[in-house]
Amino acid sequence: MKHQLKRAPSVDALPARIRHRFPIFERRIHFNSCSQGALSDSVRGAYERYLADWDEHGAPWDYWVDRQEAARRIIARLINADPDEVAVTTSVSAGVSALASGLPFDGTRSKVVVSDFEFPTIGQIWHAQERRGARVVHVPEAADGTIPLERFEAAIDEETVLVAVTQVCFRNGSRIDVEGIARLAHERGALVLADAYQAIGSIPVDVRALDCDFLAAGVLKYLLGSAGLGFFYCRRELVEGIEPTATGWFADRDIFAMDIRDYSPAPTARRFESGTPPIPSVYAAIAGIELMEEIGIAETEAHVRELNSLLLAGLNELDARVVTPRDPEQRGALLCVASADADALVGALERDAVVTSARDGNLRLSAHCYNTADDVRAVLDVLGRNRDLLRRG
Ligand SMILES: Cc1ncc(COP(=O)(O)O)c(C=O)c1O
Repeated sequence: MKHQLKRAPSVDALPARIRHRFPIFERRIHFNSCSQGALSDSVRGAYERYLADWDEHGAPWDYWVDRQEAARRIIARLINADPDEVAVTTSVSAGVSALASGLPFDGTRSKVVVSDFEFPTIGQIWHAQERRGARVVHVPEAADGTIPLERFEAAIDEETVLVAVTQVCFRNGSRIDVEGIARLAHERGALVLADAYQAIGSIPVDVRALDCDFLAAGVLKYLLGSAGLGFFYCRRELVEGIEPTATGWFADRDIFAMDIRDYSPAPTARRFESGTPPIPSVYAAIAGIELMEEIGIAETEAHVRELNSLLLAGLNELDARVVTPRDPEQRGALLCVASADADALVGALERDAVVTSARDGNLRLSAHCYNTADDVRAVLDVLGRNRDLLRRG
């Protein structure tokens, strides 16, 4: 039986305007932007331009470094930072590792508070610092799939140097109150690192509003770029007090000084960078972010909220167990559904040309600007035919 959805008349207005720019939808329903955004005509064009520039000019490094600077400016605008506060990195891991390498853990503040919603790389990087004297304390998840502020309040103290929080959890879609945590942490003299990867491009992200000290993310999900490019924000006042020991020549004060007898990190957040920039990914990132800005991130957030309420209504009808909090304020774009065999469910969807992913026993469903109410219906149809793979209630 086909799913009957009540459809708001406006719900497909955004995809009607932009979906044609993402050719995958001619063949598949891409419902997996939490993992990788769909390829657009403009990102494909950016890659083609990179190859043409390389072929035409041989080694246009001045231009390529200039593209890196363009990426820095666009990212800064996107998160309401100053370009001098932004490092263009190859991944979240690279930026956060550079930060960790520059923090001392030998004084009175050696405790790192890490939420249990963190992506593996964040937990692993902070645990790696235990070799250097750090003490890592985890803030556990509550039974309702959230981490209440009181749990951070109990964990953050005068010995805490840094609190690491993910804005939206990659495995259950729960959203953390970064602002509330920043207030608590700052009262106690601790710094805050936000991992915004599952938020950026799907909701407006503003480092000033969040009041975080550091923020890391990348471009391959809701920002429509590709693998190979991340970024790292460091609040201006903190930059010069942190000297990364994981470094490289592109982090140097004067990249082209080529001095092998000196380490003089850049006075800006560029000090968190390392080696040769990932130029092809830089081209793609600029195209992806510009396209997302043209589409509208606030519009996308509103659109995805509507799609997710249709999706939730359908999941209720199926009596599926949704592990993402129901309150729209407590979640991002990602909705996660508990499954008896999440990989089998992803396979069943794949056979119907619906692209999704699984983590931690949950099916991840992530709508974006290009998805429609029909896409939601297609997902629900497959789930309806595979009820045995859904956990109930
Ligand atoms: C929340 C979050 N953080 C970080 C990453 C990845 O980090 P990196 O860029 O180091 O691969 C992902 C997904 O791939 C993620 O979902």
